[in-house]
Amino acid sequence: MALLLAVALGAQPQPTTIPEMWSAWCARCHAQDGSGKIAEPTVTVEPMDFTDCRLTSAEPDADWERAIAKGGPGVGLSPEMPAFEDSLTPEQISGFVRHMRGFCTDRGWPSGNTNFPRPILTEKAFPENEFLVLPAISHDRNDVEIKALYERRVGKRSMFEIGVPVANDGVDELEAAVKHALVSNDRSIVSLGFETVLSSSLAIFEPFASAGTMLRDWYVQGQIKVELPTDRARADRAFVYNAYLGRDTSAAPTTWTIGVEINGENGELAFTPQVRKGLTGTGALAASLGVTIPINKREQRGVRWVGYWLWEYLEPWRARK
Ligand code: HEC
Repeated sequence: MALLLAVALGAQPQPTTIPEMWSAWCARCHAQDGSGKIAEPTVTVEPMDFTDCRLTSAEPDADWERAIAKGGPGVGLSPEMPAFEDSLTPEQISGFVRHMRGFCTDRGWPSGNTNFPRPILTEKAFPENEFLVLPAISHDRNDVEIKALYERRVGKRSMFEIGVPVANDGVDELEAAVKHALVSNDRSIVSLGFETVLSSSLAIFEPFASAGTMLRDWYVQGQIKVELPTDRARADRAFVYNAYLGRDTSAAPTTWTIGVEINGENGELAFTPQVRKGLTGTGALAASLGVTIPINKREQRGVRWVGYWLWEYLEPWRARK
C-alpha cells in the first residue's frame, strides 16, 4: 500500500499551491482558463464560464465558497460539482475563490460581495438583472397597489429600470430610472440614480443616492431621495430617507434573512420589520414580506403590508440536469 502510494505520488507530484491544485483537481471540468470549455467534457452540465465578468461579477464569494465546500447541491446546482469540504481547509477554499476571481481579467466591475439582499423599500446600490412584483396593501385593504419592475444591467456599473404600478383605480403611472455604481470595494458600494415618475397630470423627478456595506454579519443599506414634482399644486416636494439593517440566518441560498427598515418622508417616520427567503436552491427566486408601521402622525397613515417576489433572470433557478 505504502509502495503504491509512493508510486502514485512519484508519478504525479502532490500540488502544493492553489494554481497547481486548480490544474490537478478542477481544470478537468472547469478548464485551465476557467471557461468550462473542454474538448471532451466528462460532465453533462457545462459549468459557468468564469472568464465572463458579466456572470461572475454578481456572485458573492460566499456562494462560491459554499459550492466548493458542499458541492453543487449546496447551492442548488448539479451534483456533478463535487464537494471538497473534507479535503480542503477553509483557507484553501477561499484561496480557490481568489484564484477564480482572476479569470475575469476586466477591471471595474463592482464586487458581487456587495450584491446584498434587497430590502423592500430601500433601493439597493448594486446594479441588478431582476424582475420583481411588489404588492403594497393597506391593513384596511382600501388601498392596494401592485408594481411590476424590470431591472437590467448596462455595462459594468449601470442599470436601468422600468416600473408599472397598478393601483385600485388602474394604471396611471410609469416609472423609469437609471442607476450607476459610483464607488465600490469588496465590502461597500455607493450608487447615484435618477428616477422619473410620469402620470397623465405630472412628472416627478427623483434623484437619489444608495449605499450598502457589511458590518460583521449585518447588511447595512441606506438611501436618500428628493422628489421634485413639475407641478407643486398637484404634489409636494419630499425628502425621502430609508435605512435597512438585516442578516442571514444561514449560508444557504434558501436562507431566511431577517431585517428592519426605517422609512422617512419629510416629517413622517415608519419602520418596516421584514423577512426574506430564497425560494429555490440557487436563490434565483426569492420573496420578502414586511409590514410598514407608522411611528408618528399615526392618525393620517395606517399600517401597510409590503413585500416582493423576485426573479434573478440570468441565474439558473434550479439545478440543470
Ligand atoms: C467532476 C467535474 C468537476 C470538478 C472536478 C470540479 N467541478 Fe466545479 N463544477 C462542476 C460543474 C458541472 C459545475 C456547474 C454545476 C451547475 O451549474 O449546475 C461546477 C460549479 C462550480 C462552482 C459554482 C459556480 C456557479 O455556477 O455558481 C464553483 C465555485 C466550482 N465549481 C469550483 C470548483 C473548484 C474550485 C474545483 C476544484 C477544487 C472544482 N469546481 C472541481 C464540475 C466540477
